[in-house]
Amino acid sequence: MQIITKKAELEQIVRACKMRGQTIGLVPTMGALHAGHGSLVRRCVSENDVTFVSVFVNPTQFNNKEDLLKYPRSLERDAELLHSIGAHFVFAPTSEEMYTAEEMNNTFSFDFGGLDAMMEGAMRPGHFNGVVQVVSRLFYLVQPDRAYFGEKDYQQLAIIHYMVEHSSLAGTFGDLQIIGCPIVREESGLALSSRNERLSPEEKQTALAISRTLFASLEWAKEPKATVQAVRQRVIDAINAVEGLEVEYYQIVDQTTLLPTDTFGHAIGCVTVYCGPVRLIDNIKYA
Ligand code: PAF
Repeated sequence: MQIITKKAELEQIVRACKMRGQTIGLVPTMGALHAGHGSLVRRCVSENDVTFVSVFVNPTQFNNKEDLLKYPRSLERDAELLHSIGAHFVFAPTSEEMYTAEEMNNTFSFDFGGLDAMMEGAMRPGHFNGVVQVVSRLFYLVQPDRAYFGEKDYQQLAIIHYMVEHSSLAGTFGDLQIIGCPIVREESGLALSSRNERLSPEEKQTALAISRTLFASLEWAKEPKATVQAVRQRVIDAINAVEGLEVEYYQIVDQTTLLPTDTFGHAIGCVTVYCGPVRLIDNIKYA
């Protein structure tokens, strides 16, 4: 496995792969890798001739400077994991290599077809602009046939689908396929996240109430006379009742449009919860 830090070197390697007729898979990450990333990389390795993994803590998608500073960084450990899974290339550029000074101020502005109007988009202004800025750059550089994203960041996945299929950038990435992969959970139910590293052992225990409540809500949704509104409120109340947890939002939305829905068919519930100072997200599909 080779670690690349320069765009020019990356482009040269990609050209060589294309000349050999090899299929390319890409897993974009911000590092601090865990078994959730591992599952994406494993799938990528099994479906493509060559696997590239980017490890780049993208500054333009952080609307909170403290969050950016505190984001865990562990390239050496990440590289060991990626090597053991069979990734071929890791692209780990600096911010200066990735962006011009102007681009660092996130002058990039993108039409999301309304998909950013709610949930993470509403709570973190500019976040998805930064995500699309870096992901589109990675797609241009790596020219993948397939790119893999986790369903834990469900809104991000919907927006990347939109970018590739419907936005002004549609068609510019060839036949690129976006592949969403299921959330990986600890045995306890806690969704794996790089942010879990910032939880104390007690907070980690407290955070279990998030997934426990989401799974319970699948049963609540089956009760006679259950309504989306009532289940949504019950989830919010149950999580807020746990000391140390505070719900930022819980929305039950259509899995494609991300618009609020009145029925559980094709619905997904997306939650963001503060566990102490750590902001955690999770989701559950009702159908
Ligand atoms: O999901 C993430 O880790 C990031 O948002 C991504 C897609 C790697 C872009 O920086």
